[in-house]
Amino acid sequence: MQRFFIVILVLLTPGLATAPFQVQCPSSPLVREAKHELCLEESSYLKKKEIKTKNKLIDFLKSLDEARFNSKFYKRVSKDPPRLGIAISGGGYRSMLLGTGFITQMNDYGLFEYSDYIAGLSGGSWILMDLVVQNFNVNSLLTEWDLDEDLLLGIPEFDISEEEIVTNAKKEYIDNDISKKKREVRKTQISSFPEFYDQVELAVNSFEESPEECSLVKRNMNPLTRLKRIFFPNNTFTETDAKIGTFKTVLDFYKNLHLKIKPKKMEGFQISFTDYWGKAIIQRLRKNFDEDPNHTFSFSKLVQSSAKFKECSVPLPIFVANCKNGLLSNVIFEFTPFEFGSWENILRLFVRLPYLGSKIVSGEALKCVNNFDDLGFITATSSSIFNNVLIFIWNLASQSSRDAMKALNMVMGIFGLGKEEMFSISKDSSRLETDYAVYQPNPFYLYPKVDNVLTNKDHLYLVDGGEDGENIPLRTLIIPERELDVIFVLDSSSDIDNYPNGSKLKKIFEKLDEENIHYQFPKNIKSLTRPVVIGCNATKRPGRDSFLPIIIYHANAYHQYVSNTSTFKITYNQSEVNNMLLTGREVFSSDYDLHYKNCLGCILTKRTMDRLPKKKKFSPFCLQCFKDYCYS
Ligand SMILES: *[C@@H]1O[C@H](CO)[C@@H](O)[C@H](O)[C@H]1NC(C)=O
Ligand SMILES: *[C@@H]1O[C@H](CO)[C@@H](O)[C@H](O)[C@H]1NC(C)=O
Ligand SMILES: *[C@@H]1O[C@H](CO)[C@@H](O)[C@H](O)[C@H]1NC(C)=O
Ligand SMILES: *[C@@H]1O[C@H](CO)[C@@H](O)[C@H](O)[C@H]1NC(C)=O
Ligand SMILES: *[C@@H]1O[C@H](CO)[C@@H](O)[C@H](O)[C@H]1NC(C)=O
Ligand SMILES: *[C@@H]1O[C@H](CO)[C@@H](O)[C@H](O)[C@H]1NC(C)=O
Repeated sequence: MQRFFIVILVLLTPGLATAPFQVQCPSSPLVREAKHELCLEESSYLKKKEIKTKNKLIDFLKSLDEARFNSKFYKRVSKDPPRLGIAISGGGYRSMLLGTGFITQMNDYGLFEYSDYIAGLSGGSWILMDLVVQNFNVNSLLTEWDLDEDLLLGIPEFDISEEEIVTNAKKEYIDNDISKKKREVRKTQISSFPEFYDQVELAVNSFEESPEECSLVKRNMNPLTRLKRIFFPNNTFTETDAKIGTFKTVLDFYKNLHLKIKPKKMEGFQISFTDYWGKAIIQRLRKNFDEDPNHTFSFSKLVQSSAKFKECSVPLPIFVANCKNGLLSNVIFEFTPFEFGSWENILRLFVRLPYLGSKIVSGEALKCVNNFDDLGFITATSSSIFNNVLIFIWNLASQSSRDAMKALNMVMGIFGLGKEEMFSISKDSSRLETDYAVYQPNPFYLYPKVDNVLTNKDHLYLVDGGEDGENIPLRTLIIPERELDVIFVLDSSSDIDNYPNGSKLKKIFEKLDEENIHYQFPKNIKSLTRPVVIGCNATKRPGRDSFLPIIIYHANAYHQYVSNTSTFKITYNQSEVNNMLLTGREVFSSDYDLHYKNCLGCILTKRTMDRLPKKKKFSPFCLQCFKDYCYS
C-alpha cells in the first residue's frame, strides 16, 4: 500500500494559488455596532442606485397596456420609488438553474437591475457567485459553468433526502452507535454505485500486487503508463484502461484542490472541509480562473472591480449562512460586498469584509489580512450541505470492509482529506470541528459588552444557510434597515417529491411572529403554479413608521417540465439545463401571463401609493389585481 502512495505523490506538482495576505491595519475600526442603520457604503450605494435605475421601473410600468398608468402616476413613483429584493432558496443545482431562469426573465422585464438586493443561500448562492464572476451580466450566467461534468468528481450521483444528509452525517461521528436500520440504508447506497468502487478496487489492487512498482519512481516514467504496461502488457483491456484513467482524474481533482488550499494553511489559518468544497465549486464555474497571475478570489475585490457595480446599477448580493457556535440554531449571518456579521439581537456586529480573517480582539485590530473573503469559500459556506455529502460518502467508504474503500480513505488522507484528518471529533477538545466552515480568528472575539457564544470563542462555526430548515434567505431582507417594499421569493426547496409546498416559508413566518412581525401563510392557496402575493395590506412594522414588505412567493412547480430533480443531482445535460431555465422563467412570469404582468405593476408600486396621505389612490384595475392575487 505504501508504494501506491509514492506513485501518487509523484503526481503532485506545484500549483498557483492565492491565500490571505497580511496588510497594514487601517486606523478606523474594523468592527461596527449595528444599532439602527446600514453601513455607510451600503446606504450610499442604495441612494446612488435609486437615481441610476429608477427609469427601469418607469419603463416597465409604461410597457403595461392594460394597467393604463398615467403620467401623474409615473411622477409619483419616480418621487418615491419602491425598493425590491430577491430571495433565492437552497436546493442544489435545481435551485441554481431555476433561479437563473427566474432572474433572466426578471431581467427581460427590466426588473432585475432595478432590484436593490439579491440574497441567496446554498444552491441559490451559486447564482450569486456566478453573477459576481460574470460582472453581474445576467445574460452571461452559466456560460462558463461546466454543468455536464460532475460537481464533485468521483462522487456518484445519488438521491437521498436532505434531512438524512444534514442530520446523519454529523450524528454518526458523535455517537458511533448506528442502528441496524441505518446500516441497511448504507448497504443499498454502496451497492447503488458499484462502478466507482470497482474502479477504485481495480486500481488499488493493481498497485498492490505489483512486484515492480518500487522502481517506477526511479525510472521517472508516467506511473500510469507504466502501470498499464505491467498489468496489461497485451494492451487488450481498453475498458480497463479507461477505468484507470477515470480514477486518475478523480485523484488529480482532489490533489489539485489540496494544492490550492495549502497556501492558506501555510499562512496559519485553520482549514476546514469547506475550503475544499469552495475550491471545487469555483473551479466548476471557471476552470482557469486562477491561472491569471493577477486574479483574485476576494469577494469584496471582485465586486468592487465590476463596472456595473461601480456605477451602482445592480442589486447587492447577500450570501446567507447559519452560525453553529455552542448550541445555536437559526442564527443567521450574512456576507455583503461590504460586511460580514449578523443582525440577530445577540450580536448586531459587523466586520468590514476585506478585513475578514484579521486578528481582532475586543474590537481592536491586532493583525490585518486581505483576501480571506474568498468567493468560493463564502459560497461553500452558504452551501456547506454539500460538505456533508462528501463526509457522508467518505464515511461510507471508511466503514466499508472492502479493501479498496480503506485504500481510498488512506489516499484521501494524503491529501489531507482522510477521515482522521478531516472529521475527528477528537478527545483533544482544542481541535476544531472541521466539517463546519471554520472562521478563525473570530472578528467579534471578546467584543466589549457582548458576552455570549458568538464572542467568547476565537472562532465561528458557520454552516449551510438552510441547515436549520430556514431554506429561504428572507429574514436578511426583511430587516427594517433595508426598507424593502416588495420581496420576490423563489422557493425550490424539497418538501414533497422534491417540490416545495410552502412549509419553508411558513416556518420563517413562525419565526418572524416571535419578533412581532405577522405574516399569514395562506391556507386557501389554489395552486402553487401561480405566484402567491402575501401581505398586500399595508401593515406598520413594530415600533416603526414604515410598512412591512409585500412578499411574492414563487414555488418551483410543474409547468411544462418535471423540474423536481434531486438536490444532489450533480450533472445536467444541455437539454435538462434549458428546460430548468425555462421553468424558472415560467415561474417568475406565471407562464408569461400578460394580465399578471400588468398586475405586477400595481403590486410593485403599492407601497408607494400606500405612503401617500390621501385615500382612494388605486385604479379599479389595480384594486381588481389585489383581489385576484393578494392573500391575507
Ligand atoms: C498476453 O499475451 C500472451 C501471449 O499472447 C499470453 O500468454 C498472456 O497471458 C497475455 N497476458 C495477459 C495479461 O493477458
Ligand atoms: C497584471 O497586473 C500588472 C499591473 O497592474 C499589469 O502590468 C499586467 O499586465 C497584468 N497581467 C495580466 C496577465 O493581466
Ligand atoms: C417528481 O414528481 C413526481 C410527482 O409529481 C414524482 O412521481 C417523482 O418521483 C418526482 N421526482 C423526483 C426526482 O423526486
Ligand atoms: C408540506 O409537506 C410536509 C410534509 O413533507 C407537511 O408536514 C407540511 O404540513 C406541508 N405543509 C404545507 C404548508 O402544506
Ligand atoms: C439528457 O438527459 C435526459 C434525461 O434527463 C435524456 O432523456 C436526454 O436524452 C439527455 N439528452 C442528451 C442530449 O443527452
Ligand atoms: C385588506 O384590506 C381590504 C381593504 O381595506 C380589506 O377588505 C381586507 O379584508 C384586508 N385583508 C386583510 C387580510 O386584512
